[in-house]
Amino acid sequence: MGTDAPIAAVELSDVRFGWRGASSPLLAISSIHIERGEKVFLAGPSGSGKSTLLGLMSGVLLPQAGSVRVLGHAWESMSASQRDRYRADHLGVIFQMFNLVPYLSVLENVLLPLKFSKLRLGRLARPEREARELLERLGIGAEMLGRPAGELSVGEQQRTAAVRALLGQPEVVIADEPTSALDADNRDAFLELLLAEVGRSGAALVFVSHDRSLASRFDRVVQLADLRAEAQ
Ligand SMILES: Nc1ncnc2c1ncn2[C@@H]1O[C@H](COP(=O)(O)OP(=O)(O)OP(=O)(O)O)[C@@H](O)[C@H]1O
Ligand SMILES: [Mg+2]
Repeated sequence: MGTDAPIAAVELSDVRFGWRGASSPLLAISSIHIERGEKVFLAGPSGSGKSTLLGLMSGVLLPQAGSVRVLGHAWESMSASQRDRYRADHLGVIFQMFNLVPYLSVLENVLLPLKFSKLRLGRLARPEREARELLERLGIGAEMLGRPAGELSVGEQQRTAAVRALLGQPEVVIADEPTSALDADNRDAFLELLLAEVGRSGAALVFVSHDRSLASRFDRVVQLADLRAEAQ
């Protein structure tokens, strides 16, 4: 390795991961290297392990073997609280199940990560105004901002979760089927906003979707099946 090689946004090496009780590992990946600013479309059949892989990338799951690094920092070398802190500072994650706090309002949900990261808060001149503007661009208007997230439609929750992930310009954005509940117009608006925001901040984007028509908008398509290590 060259001493001045740029630090990858996300890097996996010789990773093995199996859910407890499984006889063989679900994921066995010799190498993934995602550059800073790179936009990757991750594809694979249902149940193949895409969400699991995103869990490893975001440090929510740890592999049984190998290393997962974000911006040069290995999740496995951090304590649980260090991982939470590091994730809050550097990653915007849109989970497949959104993970909004149902009793908090739309605006409170969107602003929540900034409470855990001074770094991200410090990047925003007017956090609440920027949150409102991003939400507005995704069709979530002022009249909805005070509603509890638990009352939103699934598509509205997806868009709220996306704004929450993007606010404060994290260096790595991870999105797990963020458009699955959106109609074509909302999906297109969503993708435009997501790509514009990561383009503006220079963030790397890892995007999982079953909608292959979106793949051409990305720098690279990665098939989960192609990542399997030679030795099973
Ligand atoms: N929390 C868990 N405990 C045990 N097994 C799990 C857990 N989560 C996922 N799995 C198993 O791991 C495999 C891969 O699941 P994963 O959710 O990563 O697939 P996926 O590619 O994201 O699928 P989809 O496209 O349907 O979202 C599945 O067989 C699933 O049953
Ligand atoms: Mg999934």
